[in-house]
Amino acid sequence: MTRLTNKRVLLGITGGIAAYKSAELVRRLQDEGADVRVTMTQAAQAFITPLTLQALSNHPVHLDLLDAETESVMGHIELARWADVIIVAPATADFLARLVAGHGDDLLTTICLAAECPIAVAPAMNQAMWGKVSTQQNLTTLRDRGISIFEPGDGLQACGETGTGRLMDVPLIVDAVSGLFKTGSLAGRHVVITAGPTREAIDPVRYISNHSSGKQGYALATAAAEAGARVTLVSGPTALPPPDRVTLVRVESARAMLDAVMNVIDGADIFIGVAAVADYRPATTESQKIKKQGDGSITLQLIQNPDILRTVATLKDRPFTVGFAAETEQVIDNARKKFEAKKLDMIIANDVSNQEIGFNSDDNETTVITRAGEETLTLMSKATLARRIIELIADQLVTESQTHG
Ligand code: PMT
Repeated sequence: MTRLTNKRVLLGITGGIAAYKSAELVRRLQDEGADVRVTMTQAAQAFITPLTLQALSNHPVHLDLLDAETESVMGHIELARWADVIIVAPATADFLARLVAGHGDDLLTTICLAAECPIAVAPAMNQAMWGKVSTQQNLTTLRDRGISIFEPGDGLQACGETGTGRLMDVPLIVDAVSGLFKTGSLAGRHVVITAGPTREAIDPVRYISNHSSGKQGYALATAAAEAGARVTLVSGPTALPPPDRVTLVRVESARAMLDAVMNVIDGADIFIGVAAVADYRPATTESQKIKKQGDGSITLQLIQNPDILRTVATLKDRPFTVGFAAETEQVIDNARKKFEAKKLDMIIANDVSNQEIGFNSDDNETTVITRAGEETLTLMSKATLARRIIELIADQLVTESQTHG
């Protein structure tokens, strides 16, 4: 896996000569696994064509705020929601000023206004423009608002002058983008996560399973690793590549998942049960393939599987224990019942009746329930959701350690 796997990067290009370098930036971000979409200001199109960026990014380039066609495909609000991070490179002095002023009169400024994800700007301009008090004050304001500034380099500029204002080198921008996802909030912690479905064998060729893809659990593993934790991911069968910097233990059945969890849980700080563990398994697994029966029906007797989450939650020195509740009706009420019954520290209610969220989707919408209350995390990518959940867990751990001295 690469540093930006599953990350959605929205690249905003504004009108400066360094805009030609954005083509290379798209490629290098993709090399790191990012899904890149591009939006360009009108001035940027004087320096590089949308067609080039479309061919490189494999997506239509978003150009106009008031274009009914592109708005109906993916409007500015959807683009803002889609992105895990927005990078404006190159960012002109004019764009910085408009961002500071909160303008919303073109697509890029409007997306930035609507965005809740991290935003970074990579300024590029003539050295005198860079040195102007107005530019420097704008940068200070943006920094204060939490926007990351990818500082320009020194050297010979396109205008023939020498000084500060060259777009940060593309490999350094890519490093800086991956750095945005590292928080350190779980440094020194061991996090154990279950993900994916389990398979309960009926005979050597058939099994009972479910639609879990593992995407949400793997995204949580990545987010926990980015937060500085040591992560063990116990995964049922999925088609996903192993997340970077995560110890992956592959299992098939619920019982194998329980064994794998119990092997590593001692001393763990956090357990997150994301796996869709089969509640039942066939009472017996036939050693040979079951033959078609004459009377047209067959009865399969099922017995209950161990509950991994409940087992972890009842350990003497248990970790901070987080469950997910996949529900198709009365989502919050049912999740609350599981929260109480399994004596959890946190449960995340997931409405799986909606195909846009839950099983095998790229996005999710959930409600996080703790003793302190409820928080709904509205529609966002599973990667962004994972980071939000990891930060909520990190906050809870800090609160707990303060409460218990
Ligand atoms: O994998 P994706 O395609 O990305 O989909 C994500 C998801 C929908 C699977 C995920 O967001 C989710 O909701 N996971 C929980 C699935 C589930 O089995 O929910 P449940 O309500 O049946 O179980 C409640 C909790 O108990 C879960 O944390 C589950 O991991 C745990 N459990 C359940 C049964 C069991 N025998 N052992 C368990 O540990």
